[in-house]
Parts: sequence; C-alpha cells; structure tokens
Amino acid sequence: MKFGIFNLTLFFVGSFLSAVGIADEVRIQQELADQSELIPPLQQALGKDAFDEAMASGKYSYTGNAKCRLCHRDFFLGRKEDVHDYAYKKLLNASAKNAENPRCLNCHATGAGVKGGFQSMEKTPRLANIQCEGCHGPGNVHIKRQLANMSVGKVGTKSKIVLGGFLAGTDNPALLKKMCHSCHTPRWNRAFIDFGKAYDSYKRAKPGEAP
Ligand code: HEC
Ligand code: HEC
Ligand code: HEC
Ligand code: HEC
Repeated sequence: MKFGIFNLTLFFVGSFLSAVGIADEVRIQQELADQSELIPPLQQALGKDAFDEAMASGKYSYTGNAKCRLCHRDFFLGRKEDVHDYAYKKLLNASAKNAENPRCLNCHATGAGVKGGFQSMEKTPRLANIQCEGCHGPGNVHIKRQLANMSVGKVGTKSKIVLGGFLAGTDNPALLKKMCHSCHTPRWNRAFIDFGKAYDSYKRAKPGEAP
C-alpha cells in the first residue's frame, strides 16, 4: 500500500485533532467531578462583599448585546468573529448532554448564576454565549448614563464624554483582568500564550486583529 504524503498529513491532522478532543474530555470529566462551590465569574472578580453590595443595590441588570449594538455597531459586528460569541454553541456541539449543566454554563454564558443573568435557553436565549456583559458586567447603568449624556448635548454644544457605570469597565482594568481569570482558570487556560497580548487585543472591535 502506498502511504503518500496526503495520507500522512491526514494521519497527523487526525491524531492532533483527537488529542485535542481527548484533552477537552479530560478537563470536562475533572470539571464534572469538581465539588467546589460554584461561584459566578463576576462574583469571583469582585469578591463576595462588593458583589453582594452591588446586587443588593438593585441597580444592575443585564440588557443583552442587541442594546449595545445601537451605539457600538463596530464592536458588535467585530465580536461576531470572536470565540466568546460562540461559547454556548461550542458547548452544545461538543458536549450536548452538559449544555444545561450550571457548572458548564457558569463560563459559557452571560451572567449565569447572577440575578437577571442567563438561566436557560428557554428562559433567557438573549444571554447565551459570552456577550459584552459577560466580560464588562451588567450594562443597564452604563446605557442610562450614556442616554442622559446624549440628551444633555444640545445643538451647538458638545456633550462631554462620560465613562464608568460598569462593574468591569475600562475604568477598572484590574477588575476586567480578574474577569478573564475567573473563567480562564488553570484547568481552562489553553487560551493564553501571552495573556497581556490577548487582553490588549480586546481593546479593539475585532480581537486578534493587528493594531
Ligand atoms: C446610547 C448609546 C450607548 C449604548 C446603548 C451603549 N453604549 Fe457603551 N458607550 C457609549 C459612549 C458614547 C461611550 C464613550 C465613548 C466611546 O467609547 O465611544 C461608551 C463607552 C463604552 C465603553 C468604554 C468605557 C467604559 O465605561 O468602560 C464600554 C466598555 C462600553 N461602552 C460598552 C457597552 C456595552 C457592553 C453596552 C451594552 C450593554 C453599551 N456599551 C451600550 C454609548 C453607548
Ligand atoms: C471555569 C470556567 C469554565 C468552566 C466551569 C467550563 N469551561 Fe469549558 N472552557 C472554558 C474556557 C476558558 C475555554 C477555552 C479554552 C481554554 O482556554 O482552555 C473552554 C473550552 C471548552 C471546550 C473547547 C471548545 C473549543 O473551542 O474547542 C469545550 C468542549 C468545553 N469548554 C466544554 C465544557 C463543559 C462540558 C463544561 C462543564 C462540564 C465546561 N466546559 C466548563 C471555561 C470553562
Ligand atoms: C472577552 C471579554 C470582552 C468581551 C466579550 C467584550 N469586551 Fe469590551 N473590552 C474588553 C477589554 C479587555 C477591553 C480593554 C480594557 C482596557 O482598556 O484595559 C475592552 C474595551 C472596550 C471598549 C473601549 C474601547 C476603547 O476605545 O478603549 C468598548 C467600547 C467595549 N469594550 C465595548 C464592548 C462591546 C460593545 C462588547 C460586545 C459587543 C464587548 N466590549 C465585549 C473585554 C471584552
Ligand atoms: C464568562 C467566562 C469568560 C470570560 C469572562 C472570558 N473568557 Fe475567554 N473564553 C471563555 C470560553 C468559554 C472560551 C472558549 C470559547 C469557544 O471555544 O467557543 C474562551 C476563549 C478565549 C480565547 C480563545 C482561545 C482559543 O483557544 O481560541 C481567548 C484568547 C480568550 N478567551 C481571552 C479572554 C480574555 C483576554 C478575557 C478577559 C478580557 C476573557 N477571555 C474573558 C470564557 C471566558
């Protein structure tokens, strides 16, 4: 039998893919066997006290990324090519029987385990995958501020730029970095060869694109 270069390539590609698949399966089994308390990424990043205080204030709620699109069309469209936007779909495709498991959803959906966040595909389909608010936290306060600011800016006057309003906004990069690490734990850390570089790429509408 002739074992040509094409077959050889197929063989190596095949073994590489199955090795990656096996590695995922091992991590999935470890995750399923994990008895530690399930803490939402937002709570991990903020710490329990700050998280409880923010939630008790009743100020924050998730809006879904369709709202963000109204003013950030470039980011919304750019993110359609980012893996985070497919994190629930990937979970469903790779491991359908676990697609409703709260342990998996904690890191593969937006705001799972947080009041007003993702609950299930039936109840909250608009919060599937890791959307804008999966990293930045609930967006309603930000939107309210931006709308108020826009209505202040009358013709001939320039409305000032207002920032803040997010629990994990760009005014708090340290917290935003903690958000990354609360999902990208040592078990789920394949994403990073260079964390700083990966982080910085999210300053752009299309992550991974050259600056
Ligand atoms: C009514 C318009 C409007 C909507 C809706 C809106 N934004 Fe903004 N956003 C702005 C403006 C204006 C700025 C400030 C200048 C800029 O970056 O364009 C801003 C800035 C930001 C920033 C950087 C500053 C900071 O505070 O961290 C982030 C992150 C952000 N928006 C995310 C979002 C997300 C996520 C949503 C959806 C939940 C959203 N925005 C919805 C208008 C809006
Ligand atoms: C602590 C957060 C976290 C939890 C919990 C988690 N995942 Fe993930 N998962 C990730 C991250 C982050 C990645 C991206 C790969 C990486 O960085 O290692 C990922 C990647 C994956 C992939 C590979 C997707 C691809 O692109 O090939 C599969 C499959 C997967 N997860 C399934 C699951 C299942 C099933 C569960 C529940 C048993 C689960 N995950 C729980 C964070 C998590
Ligand atoms: C994977 C996490 C993640 C997701 C998902 C995400 N962002 Fe961000 N975003 C970041 C990081 C990190 C920064 C850079 C923060 C800094 O400057 O330190 C950022 C910065 C921004 C900025 C400010 C850019 C500037 O000019 O400095 C805006 C606006 C923004 N994001 C909007 C969005 C919107 C809208 C979405 C959804 C369509 C979104 N982000 C989804 C992590 C994320
Ligand atoms: C809510 C959980 C969560 C947060 C927060 C989060 N990620 Fe992820 N990240 C994931 C999951 C899950 C995947 C895998 C998605 C898939 O393969 O479909 C992923 C994938 C990635 C990948 C691509 C990995 C690959 O193998 O292609 C990079 C890079 C990445 N994340 C960087 C970041 C950075 C930087 C931040 C913080 C600004 C961040 N992530 C915040 C859960 C998260």
